[in-house]
Amino acid sequence: MNETNKAGVTPHALSKNEISERVEALLAEMSLDEKVGQLTQISGAEFMPGPNVEDIIRKHGVGSVLWLNNTKRFNELQEIAIEESPSGIPILFALDVIHGYRTIFPVPLALAASWDPDVAEQAQAVAAKEARAAGIHWTFGPMLDIARDARWGRIVEGSGEDPFLGAAMAAAQVRGFQGEGLSDPERVLACAKHFAGYGAADGGRDYDPVYLPETQLRNVYFPPFKAALEAGVGTFMSAYMDLNNVPASGNRWLLKNILQEEWGFKGFVISDAFGVGSLVTQGFAKDHRDAALRSLQAGQHMDMASNTYLKNLAGLVKDGTISMDEIDAMVRPILETKVRMGLFEHPYVDETLLDKVIALPEHRQTARMAAQRSMVLLRNDDDLLPLSKTQQNIAVIGPLADSMEATEGSWMVFDHQPAAVTVLQGIRNKLPDADIAYALGPDIYRDIPHPFGEFDTTEKKSIQTPENAEAAFQIALKTAQNADLIIMVLGETADMAGEFASRGSLDLPGRQEELLKAVHGLGKPIVLVLINGRPLSINWAAEHIPAILEAWEPGTEGGNAVADILFGDINPGGKLPVCFPRSGNHAPLYYARTLTHLPENDKQYHSRYWDSPTTPLYPFGFGLSYTTFAFSNLQVSESQIKVGEHLTVSVDVTNTGKIAGDEVVQLYIHQKWGRDSRPMRELKGFERLYLQSGETKTVTFQLGPNELRYWSTAANGWVQEAADFDIWVGADSLATLHADLKVID
Ligand code: BGC
Repeated sequence: MNETNKAGVTPHALSKNEISERVEALLAEMSLDEKVGQLTQISGAEFMPGPNVEDIIRKHGVGSVLWLNNTKRFNELQEIAIEESPSGIPILFALDVIHGYRTIFPVPLALAASWDPDVAEQAQAVAAKEARAAGIHWTFGPMLDIARDARWGRIVEGSGEDPFLGAAMAAAQVRGFQGEGLSDPERVLACAKHFAGYGAADGGRDYDPVYLPETQLRNVYFPPFKAALEAGVGTFMSAYMDLNNVPASGNRWLLKNILQEEWGFKGFVISDAFGVGSLVTQGFAKDHRDAALRSLQAGQHMDMASNTYLKNLAGLVKDGTISMDEIDAMVRPILETKVRMGLFEHPYVDETLLDKVIALPEHRQTARMAAQRSMVLLRNDDDLLPLSKTQQNIAVIGPLADSMEATEGSWMVFDHQPAAVTVLQGIRNKLPDADIAYALGPDIYRDIPHPFGEFDTTEKKSIQTPENAEAAFQIALKTAQNADLIIMVLGETADMAGEFASRGSLDLPGRQEELLKAVHGLGKPIVLVLINGRPLSINWAAEHIPAILEAWEPGTEGGNAVADILFGDINPGGKLPVCFPRSGNHAPLYYARTLTHLPENDKQYHSRYWDSPTTPLYPFGFGLSYTTFAFSNLQVSESQIKVGEHLTVSVDVTNTGKIAGDEVVQLYIHQKWGRDSRPMRELKGFERLYLQSGETKTVTFQLGPNELRYWSTAANGWVQEAADFDIWVGADSLATLHADLKVID
């Protein structure tokens, strides 16, 4: 089994026994200090005060170093670990590579909007290859938090509101990051985060407590994590917040009982940054000693950056509170991971590799394809889009039209230099001979600056004064006036979504809507391109702007992809992975709610509010195309099955328009009664199809116990029940094509 692969590295197809023998041999030699070192991830960031990184490595060795993105420095620190620490155990270098290392892909929420797990897999495979070439072994992704509250900034990092779509995207991202096993030298170790429930923060306020009953956790919040585990994810990260009053970092039920015992996870769990130390701040642990003890005993193997394990674990062993066996049990999966990854054989990175890898043309091609496939057409009245390439006089307007930072979006790796093709540039690339004018308009800023801003060397804009902003407004209006066609590029800057980036309102920030109204008032053809990392309540635009493209934060090739779609080289086919509420005040809002005694479609009762409809502005699963599709001939292989049996559901989909295009066929079910009430709709199947004009394809879905069971509060366990079900298949979560299913005992 010792073939050398194309990277010149030997794959490590070690048997379980061989791995275990090597790990036990290491453990037998290691001192307590070294074992504690392996349970520790230290910060390599210069901005962090603290003990000298090199000294710690010399004395203990360390499990991992994070917040460092410097290939040469990786090798230097690795050399210290190998040559100078007692057992010479190599370091795992870790960094957040969330949607690309140098080639930036659409943000994860956008990747989910492709409804094409293959796209997410390919994107993360490229991200992994670049990151690994830079010397990074481990990424803190994929982020798998279901998010049903668009005010929560971190909605941008995940796959949206739905557990079924989220699970598919979770598995795909794990495959993309890790490949077949952990030994692939062109991939990285993945980390399923943040376990669990973080997206349900009270009020959408980042880090605030979460109260989720077990039924919600098991039916909604756990499935993406379970899918990641089944796809072989090597590590998990615990979340920060209190889950039902127990911080996830010290939550034994979550980490030990569910993840390790019930699900049989054999990798290792790391805290979120400073999470172990924060158990004191959160009012859970008495002091740092107590925090280290309770976190370790809850099942958390590695302490990220708080140094609480480093300072307290040895003492806890020495005074007999923790046994050496307990420590060994925690160190074991960390060492196993390093052995399986081949780190002992290949601890160093070739410092010339990255430049070669990032130059690969397929990386940019994949980024462009991913951006094209993730964009969602929200409105296209009278087929305003696609635009003609003979357009000569175009104004591109808005604070995000030429912002590389916004185009790349949130979560860049440390020291990243923005290098995206902006929408303005993409349009110029597409129409090199046209007259394309540009105006920024009033710029947009957070009212309360982002705390990471102080580390950010790139986003150095001068804040406009109100007078400058007014002048910019007038210039934008004038620029629009002189054009025959106006493309407005509005939304949110990169630091408006993400961590520390929750907001109360979902409106377009700043004076953007005012500018949009003024430009619309000119009476010219107008297209709105949205650059943003969360749903926005664009109610006015949805009614008045004839063509709206949700481009998300589309990455390095984003502007080219936007131009590809606007000018008809690509027909958009993405669909929303979250519903768009009409207001931030409506959040959380999601389609898979249970019915009430007065359902919203009841004639007497139109809305839960008297001042606005509670329906979303755009429903989950929604997205248009330049062509049209018809669904027909919905068939169920059996209209009655027994509990435990399967059936197939098939439907014909026809492209009824004039050009080829993609449709995402979606299957929803509703269990009409049961021990618990079940959501009025739940996604249980989807497939993105490509159809030529006039072509018909038949799509088939399987339904069986996996899709029909649920975790019941009443039964306190998984049940599949004899009951009647509705089945709908269609183009979004409002699909109307219907079939009945009866499940009997
Ligand atoms: C975030 C994590 C991230 C970690 C390391 C934390 O603040 O919550 O998602 O992986 O920092 O950068």
